Amino acid sequence: MIITKPITYGSEAYKDMLALRNEVLRKPINWPYFELANTRHETEFILLGGYDKQHTLVACCILAEKTPSEVQLKQMAVLPNQQGKGTGAQLLHHAEIIALQKGYKKLSMHARQTALGFYQKYNYVSIGTVFEEVGIPHFKMEKVLSLPKAK
Ligand SMILES: CC(C)(COP(=O)(O)OP(=O)(O)OC[C@H]1O[C@@H](n2cnc3c(N)ncnc32)[C@H](O)[C@@H]1OP(=O)(O)O)[C@@H](O)C(=O)NCCC(=O)NCCS
Repeated sequence: MIITKPITYGSEAYKDMLALRNEVLRKPINWPYFELANTRHETEFILLGGYDKQHTLVACCILAEKTPSEVQLKQMAVLPNQQGKGTGAQLLHHAEIIALQKGYKKLSMHARQTALGFYQKYNYVSIGTVFEEVGIPHFKMEKVLSLPKAK
């Protein structure tokens, strides 16, 4: 189980988030690392951290407004030793709830082709054709958000 918390831009937690993103998203594709100095535009974003019981940051993602009704999920990353244990699914679910609470109706993302199956599992559908971003194939995916049904 993870706890999802907002991260303040420029804080120590934000620096941890950048380190996680570099390790999980950039290092494997030999892409230049994020530097704090180049992230000013992220002051506009909803930055989310997923923390384990030891209060360690194990996952993160960003919600970035596209339109007043659509928000884009970016920089979704889970620490390698925490992958495959349901962490990403939990963070995605928490991000959806936060997006709904903020009034967004649709969540979209540029999904790496390697992560397509992950998002499909949670009813995201791909729109259009493959395109290249950070040197690797991506698909636009989206889902109309709805509140979880009461059991
Ligand atoms: C993709 C990622 C966020 C998924 O998080 P995770 O914690 O590993 O995934 P979970 O353990 O929550 O998996 C939930 C379900 O999705 C499936 N799944 C996870 N990653 C998958 C993938 N890349 N492709 C297809 N299915 C996947 C799991 O098998 C699991 O299915 P199950 O419930 O039937 O067992 C994570 O693996 C990651 O950070 N990968 C590297 C970076 C990346 O690709 N980020 C996304 C960029 S768009």
